Amino acid sequence: MARKMKAAQVQKADGTLEVVEREIPEPGPGQVRIAVEACGVCHSDAITKEGWMPIQYPRVPGHEVVGRIERVGTGVTAWKEGQHVGVGWHGGHCGQCVACRSGDFVTCEKQQICGISYDGGYAEYLVAPQEALARVPEGMSSEDAAPLLCAGVTTYNSLRNMGARPGDLVAVQGIGGLGHLAIQYASKFGYRTAAISRGADKKALAMELGAHEYIDTEKGKPAEALQKLGGARVIMMTASSSSLAGELIGGLGRNGTLLLLGAGSEPIPVSSLSMISKRTRIQGWPSGVPQDSQETMAFSALAGVRSRNEVFPLDRAAEAYERMMSNKARFRVVLKMR
Ligand SMILES: NC(=O)c1ccc[n+]([C@@H]2O[C@H](COP(=O)([O-])OP(=O)(O)OC[C@H]3O[C@@H](n4cnc5c(N)ncnc54)[C@H](OP(=O)(O)O)[C@@H]3O)[C@@H](O)[C@H]2O)c1
Ligand SMILES: [Zn+2]
Repeated sequence: MARKMKAAQVQKADGTLEVVEREIPEPGPGQVRIAVEACGVCHSDAITKEGWMPIQYPRVPGHEVVGRIERVGTGVTAWKEGQHVGVGWHGGHCGQCVACRSGDFVTCEKQQICGISYDGGYAEYLVAPQEALARVPEGMSSEDAAPLLCAGVTTYNSLRNMGARPGDLVAVQGIGGLGHLAIQYASKFGYRTAAISRGADKKALAMELGAHEYIDTEKGKPAEALQKLGGARVIMMTASSSSLAGELIGGLGRNGTLLLLGAGSEPIPVSSLSMISKRTRIQGWPSGVPQDSQETMAFSALAGVRSRNEVFPLDRAAEAYERMMSNKARFRVVLKMR
């Protein structure tokens, strides 16, 4: 008789998260089965829950998955049973399209997304393609590693590619799952780090995480506050508010970049005149490939960057998701399976 596992799945677009019993999946050629130990709950799981992309339901969300390899499929040579690994948003690539042939796997035309293209980590087991795996550094717990597979790699990998130099003013808007890690990375990279949030609530925590400045958007215009500090080299936006993005551009200094991480569909109002005179730009960034995740985890271990997690059992996945969506979580919600 097939062995069973518990999984939290979404039945249909805009459906509820329900814990069900399913057969434990078998890895096919080039795939591995992971016994999941922890999975982070990311705001992007709303894509699966709400059905914002074409998705085949029922679907198990979760793209911050960490566990041990329990079984390898035929043709898997790079991995073996027992290894401590993670799977992030980038859940596999074709290896054959123009992007893959030039080594740019993150823009693969047939990129698979864990928890969207196939069942993700809100479950006791998961099957993933071998190229989607990242090694967890020795001594790092699964709970600590999980949020680094999306919130971590997205902020670390984008920020390290923005061209800012130690001492530059770098602002992080939104202190949630991504933002609280971004503040730590920015500060460890040696940037003068400004945290931008709504209300005074998170000030003490932001300073504890390494912020040097705190900007409360309810107390005044954040762009003016940034200009008083000399203008930002980078403003990382983790919320998806286009009107706020339009406002924040005014906080950039010369050659500054507004880095968009939170995805929104509304147009951003910008004045080209002010952008031209200061030579500023707006840039988007998708998380990264598994090698970027490995480097994120290694840097986090080295520099002491740690996600602050609220841990829930898999049975309470729906509550855990609501906690993140309602902005009550301080700061990442993580499901623990074993
Ligand atoms: N680019 C990528 O590859 C990538 C990867 C992962 C996630 N994402 C996206 O990044 C975003 C953040 O994800 P997350 O998991 O960090 O979410 P989260 O924990 O909910 O944090 C988002 C933060 O944004 C702020 N915020 C929320 N609504 C806002 C509004 N209307 N106006 C201004 N600020 C607002 C809040 O911070 P304050 O309370 O401090 O104001 C909130 O804590 C999501 O849109 C997610 O889909 C993108
Ligand atoms: Zn994510």
